[in-house]
Amino acid sequence: MKQKVRKAVLPVAGLGTRFLPATKASPKEMLPIVDKPMIQYIVEEAKESGVEQVILVTGRGKQAIENHFDTSSELERILEQKGEEKLLREIQKISNLVSFCYVRQKEALGLGHAVLCASEAVGNEPFAVLLGDMIIDSETPGLKQLMDVYEHYKDPVIGVSRVEQSEVSRYGIIKANQVSSGVHEVLDLIEKPSPEKAPSNLAIIGRYILPPEIFDILERTSPGANGEIQLTDALKKVLDNTALFACEIKGKVHDGGSKLGFLKATVELALKNPELGDDFRQYLKGLDL
Ligand code: UTP
Repeated sequence: MKQKVRKAVLPVAGLGTRFLPATKASPKEMLPIVDKPMIQYIVEEAKESGVEQVILVTGRGKQAIENHFDTSSELERILEQKGEEKLLREIQKISNLVSFCYVRQKEALGLGHAVLCASEAVGNEPFAVLLGDMIIDSETPGLKQLMDVYEHYKDPVIGVSRVEQSEVSRYGIIKANQVSSGVHEVLDLIEKPSPEKAPSNLAIIGRYILPPEIFDILERTSPGANGEIQLTDALKKVLDNTALFACEIKGKVHDGGSKLGFLKATVELALKNPELGDDFRQYLKGLDL
């Protein structure tokens, strides 16, 4: 793979069952962390990493995501009339972040299937995948860190992060050889292993740079765990033909799709917020913990 990564696929068609009842009628990816929906953090990360086009894989009940990234002339007119310049610029910025394209996953048949739905929109070029509920709080944007590894090795790259040994069974875990500081060559991938069987504590955290060949592989991948087409199963087959690297993300990774992960992200990002941070810190200090 030598081409530049121009496109990113953001699958947002999942049912969000871990976050019910909040997600019964609202998309999980639109839940706000401080003052921005989770999906906006992800789109901003993609843009800051050099992505030009974002392909959102949506499903039933996800229209709020499309509306969020569309222009809103009525709202803009009102803000203009009220002289709310700063807010107006912020609202306009959202729809101008990147170029957006939407494809539909008719049924939530798994992450691998969601990525496959974007095959025509991606075409024959390497592309990024960013999960809509994993928030990375880092100095260098998470995907940019993968892009740097990709530039160097010219092979597919996945983002990983070290997790507690007791938590490995919640993630895809890699078996790998370290090749340089924070970079590993992947030898195998194991979906949700028990702590005794896990070959490492390096967990796959929802950032990928993939070759277009993954689409043919996904097409031939039969449903795995929970009857879903798993991206991890397809990645294992990528290993048959090419090297695959893992980039240890420098920064904090929050699983915004789980209630506890979402709360942690909210507290940490609120503390860093220039407008709210100081007051929020004071408030937390005053709590009887
Ligand atoms: P998750 O497994 O975290 O999301 O998938 P989910 O299925 O919505 O959540 P739970 O497990 O039921 O609580 C990671 C990302 O992949 C998308 C989700 O929207 C989420 O952003 N996804 C998942 C799809 O687009 N389609 C699917 O079939 C499954």
